Amino acid sequence: MSSLSTSAPGVRQTNFQFRCIACGSVTDDASQNFRCADCGDLLEVTYPLWKEAKPLAADLKSTWRQRRLSRSAIDMSGVWRFRELLPVLESPEQAITLREGNTPLYELPRCARITRVPRLFGKHQGLNPTGSFKDTGMTVAATFARLAGFRWVACASTGNTSASMAAYAARGGLRSLVLVPEGKISWSKLSQALDYGAVTCQLRTDFDGCLRLLQELVLRAPVYQLNSINPFRLEGQKTLALELLEQLDWQPPDHIIVPGGNLGNSSAIGKALLEMRELGLISSLPKLSVIQAEGANALVRTLREAAGKSLVTVQAETRATAIRIGNPASWKKAVHVIEATGGACEQVTEIEIAQAKAEIGAEGIGCEPASAVTLAGLKKLLQQRFVKPEESVVLVLTGNLLKDPDFTMEFHRGDLFKGSNNENAGAALNNLHRPPIVLDATLDAVIQTLDQAEKSSPETER
Ligand code: F0G
Repeated sequence: MSSLSTSAPGVRQTNFQFRCIACGSVTDDASQNFRCADCGDLLEVTYPLWKEAKPLAADLKSTWRQRRLSRSAIDMSGVWRFRELLPVLESPEQAITLREGNTPLYELPRCARITRVPRLFGKHQGLNPTGSFKDTGMTVAATFARLAGFRWVACASTGNTSASMAAYAARGGLRSLVLVPEGKISWSKLSQALDYGAVTCQLRTDFDGCLRLLQELVLRAPVYQLNSINPFRLEGQKTLALELLEQLDWQPPDHIIVPGGNLGNSSAIGKALLEMRELGLISSLPKLSVIQAEGANALVRTLREAAGKSLVTVQAETRATAIRIGNPASWKKAVHVIEATGGACEQVTEIEIAQAKAEIGAEGIGCEPASAVTLAGLKKLLQQRFVKPEESVVLVLTGNLLKDPDFTMEFHRGDLFKGSNNENAGAALNNLHRPPIVLDATLDAVIQTLDQAEKSSPETER
């Protein structure tokens, strides 16, 4: 069986190593479970050459800009375009790419009015090839899986990782095994995995149970794990921050706000920010804040009840199924980047998530429920004066609106909170509902509906 080593064929030995986040020991071999052989904690990718010869910030910026004119597949990828900060490939053809990244940074004028934060932006990772930020990590990790000679890749998922993994495996000629919690992921995400050809198992457990099983499986079977404890995933996901800063002409925003589930993405963005500062690409650090659903708030509790020193796990429950996770694998990495950037960690209720999602939808861009925690969290951080209205804020919108149409339909039909503890509180959101209207197919009926709509909400709000 292949093991994943920096000396795998096609990988330049000298470009990177793995470092344990706890004991700091450095190794060339990530083993099957991406854990330190000495202390068992998670590994991260490190670039030893930077100690002797840092790449020059001005050169990097100009190289990355020039590549935007290139027609080669690796340059058109919004991930591999930044390859000086990634584990290097011997040849560009080795990359499994679907032109991931390259996502827009939108102004959010309506949400800016609601929050009274004029400089408010959304980095829409939901516009990646499979509809979520996972693609930016998957292009790198799937590529290295193939280079290490694996035939099978596998993941536990709340849906987006599995959709992304299945797509990249298919593009790269690999087979994929998906473990998802039965009944707890959206059909859209599940259908992607099926269509891209994954062997898809719905396990009678939650996400945490699926991940536990996968960790045991990789020690017994020759499958390569593509969850975010895989350090190559986080290297790819780092590029979100590089692309964002390039879009802002390398002027750091005051705050970046990201949803927290298994906590890989916040860790990756934080790693990128710290590396950018180390390389002189930026001179100050944005504060990176992580927002969780109240019902899946392991990191919030870890910081409040254990001062970030030991993980407080929870039995997770939220309609934002993407972040329905109670035992987040990358919690230590997330604590580190929150502390290093001076960020915050907050939780938001189901009602706050639904409201924020509708408000982002009304911008004409939309997102999935897990992404909307960022706007809901921003409102909390403003109340606490942690964020000031005059500061600039970027919300990381992690997934596409179409990822969870059931949530959206139930919300607009007024059914989302029916029969739940939130039923009464949910009534406060009635003014945001836009239910579909069934009519006889007559001109009169349509004109009457148009008149009524104009009378009930005449504003165009631009
Ligand atoms: N937003 C979306 C849309 C997600 O799918 C996820 C995670 C997150 C936020 C949280 O990111 O785990 O890095 O903290 N989804 C994973 C999955 C767990 O399996 O698709 P995180």
